Amino acid sequence: EAKAYFSRELLDWYRANKRVLPWRMNRDPYRIWVSEVMLQQTRVDTVIPYYERFMAKFPTITVLAEAPEEEVLKLWEGLGYYSRARNLQAGAQEVAERHGGIVPDNKDMVAALRGVGPYTTGAIMSIAFNRPEPAVDGNVMRVLSRYFCLEDDIAKPSTRIGIEKLAASLIPEGAAGDFNQALMELGALVCTPKSPGCLTCPVMAHCEGRAEGKEHILPIKTKA
Ligand code: ADE
Repeated sequence: EAKAYFSRELLDWYRANKRVLPWRMNRDPYRIWVSEVMLQQTRVDTVIPYYERFMAKFPTITVLAEAPEEEVLKLWEGLGYYSRARNLQAGAQEVAERHGGIVPDNKDMVAALRGVGPYTTGAIMSIAFNRPEPAVDGNVMRVLSRYFCLEDDIAKPSTRIGIEKLAASLIPEGAAGDFNQALMELGALVCTPKSPGCLTCPVMAHCEGRAEGKEHILPIKTKA
């Protein structure tokens, strides 16, 4: 059936084709956290050198928590959206104070940290701790809207909630981190916004959006 096919083929494709990226070296939740914050409004290629410099200067949560804010902002220069850097440091200070400098393997405690929204919570819980939590951002909404030919407006919170439930139901047993990264990877490399690469897509055979000829108009999004 379409769901089991999707999960299996996408996971296999990811494991064979995933990019080597600096935040994929290990499952340190701090490294995952920093990468997800940087990647929120910035492309992978741009992020990589910033990420390497940041991790070299602030290798642990404690070091980041204790650093002068201007040093954190200096390493962020050029990435923009500086509130991300301030929130990340504030979140690191919360982990230092509340959790002894260790990111807790607990969804509610992670979600309570400064600057950590539902997407980042799901990314940290799944990638670092392999917990079966969805991590739905714009790329994932696009991929799932197309594959399942979902024509609801992704700007609506109810649509996002529905897609989060769908994404959670697709996670293969014991493979949450790889599967969520597979969704991101497909959105970044194949199921791209403007000209989706359907001919190289590992799940094209059962893609309903493509079958309906709607891959270019999905996802539907009203307001900017
Ligand atoms: N975009 C958002 N999170 C990502 C990740 N972990 N790997 C690659 N691209 C991403």
